[in-house]
Amino acid sequence: MRKKPPFPFVIGHRGSPRAAPENTLASFRQAARDGATWVEFDVCLTLDGRAVIFHDDDLDRTSDGTGPLALMPFDAIRNLDAGGWFGPDFAGEPVPTLEEALDLFADLGLGFNMEIKPDPGREIETAEIALTIARESWPAEAPAPLISSFSRISMATAKEVQPGWPRDLLFDRVAEDWKDIGAMLDVVSFGANHLHLSAETVSAMQDAGYGVMAYTVNDVTRAKTLKAWGIDAIFTDIPADMLKAFR
Ligand code: G3P
Ligand code: MG
Repeated sequence: MRKKPPFPFVIGHRGSPRAAPENTLASFRQAARDGATWVEFDVCLTLDGRAVIFHDDDLDRTSDGTGPLALMPFDAIRNLDAGGWFGPDFAGEPVPTLEEALDLFADLGLGFNMEIKPDPGREIETAEIALTIARESWPAEAPAPLISSFSRISMATAKEVQPGWPRDLLFDRVAEDWKDIGAMLDVVSFGANHLHLSAETVSAMQDAGYGVMAYTVNDVTRAKTLKAWGIDAIFTDIPADMLKAFR
């Protein structure tokens, strides 16, 4: 018997990134204003091991920095502008720390999916640091978050550090061994690129007892097709529009 997945159908992908710069506190606040009850974000490590919220390997696209984030210490990351590239209203928006993001979610009553995005070779360290911070700062009485990663090593580490929090293994294309690895990592769900998902795969995963999530779905018609397949959640850059469509 499949358990009800512990997340809503619409999840703001990196916050509300069409309306505010992705993976910033402004983006998470915007998602809450949009009506989202959950957001997804990416966590990675600075050179000196601080957990910060950022998607790309390189700083260039979403900040005024250049080069790999993983090669820069926290103090330098902290001086970057992660909002001005998006628009003048957001100039000076910093790269958030994990602690800052979690404090904001607790204040706003937002649930979250923390995606662990390790630099190659730092899969264990990234998961250990992020999960330890989250365990210490997320209120015990608040609903548990969902922990995800494309990295199986980070997922195995998450299972060791915080076994009670539900896990979601991410794929681009679903791997052939999904059933074995899902059991090994004891996940509640799988997340996959919606472009590579089929109704058959969704059914097979659900029949095996797992939830299925699809990223990144920015077209309402496509979201309705996925919903008709019975998918459990979509990550979207347009949470306001999706929530309206599925009200
Ligand atoms: O968790 C879904 C999605 O965020 C995975 O891909 O590259 O947007 O982090 P990406
Ligand atoms: Mg992500």
